[in-house]
Amino acid sequence: MADLLKMDPARIARLRDPARLALADPERVLTVTAPLGDGPIVDVGAGVGYVALPFARRFPTRRVIAADVLPGMLALLDEAAASAGLANLETALMPGPATVPVPAATASLAIMLQVHHELDDPIALLQECRRILAPGAPIVIVDWRAENQPGIPQGGRRVPQTTIAEHLAAAGFAAIANHDLYPAHSTTIGTAPA
Ligand SMILES: C[S@@+](CC[C@H](N)C(=O)[O-])C[C@H]1O[C@@H](n2cnc3c(N)ncnc32)[C@H](O)[C@@H]1O
Repeated sequence: MADLLKMDPARIARLRDPARLALADPERVLTVTAPLGDGPIVDVGAGVGYVALPFARRFPTRRVIAADVLPGMLALLDEAAASAGLANLETALMPGPATVPVPAATASLAIMLQVHHELDDPIALLQECRRILAPGAPIVIVDWRAENQPGIPQGGRRVPQTTIAEHLAAAGFAAIANHDLYPAHSTTIGTAPA
């Protein structure tokens, strides 16, 4: 069993709750975008693998890199990937909040699900995502909608979708588009410039 490194077990249980799939199934983003080229898919703020695990299953011949700032999350994700036999899934510990250890202009898709609202400097991390993405490759940001709605957790940090789009533009992304995939989450996609 991985060392939780002082992480809250209740938070881990929430991140692993299969009921999340009814609200925000990560594979639904593939109905509106796709990886570009053969490079790795990078799950930024991967946690314990809510996106990285199903994407590694969905794309068995492609590298999926799960990046996070918390080693305890990645230790649990390593265990889950090993027990699922997902040799194409690798974890990458971020040395800082805006450093993703992936070579420049190589990634085919970057995805951040329920991460944006936690970021102290979102534009810096998005600039880093732009650095790692191949020209023309997409970034997908899925996060809680800012508007309160019945049946979803209230309070906490919420970022309006217009602000997420502004952050993407400030980080240099092009072709920014909003999608309506989920009842309680916004989906915002940008494209790394050519
Ligand atoms: C609410 S969890 C979501 C995890 C996963 N994406 C999911 O949906 O289950 C937010 C994650 O973002 C990570 N995180 C926070 N700040 C980050 C940063 N600057 N760069 C990368 N990950 C970050 C946290 O460590 C945590 O694992």
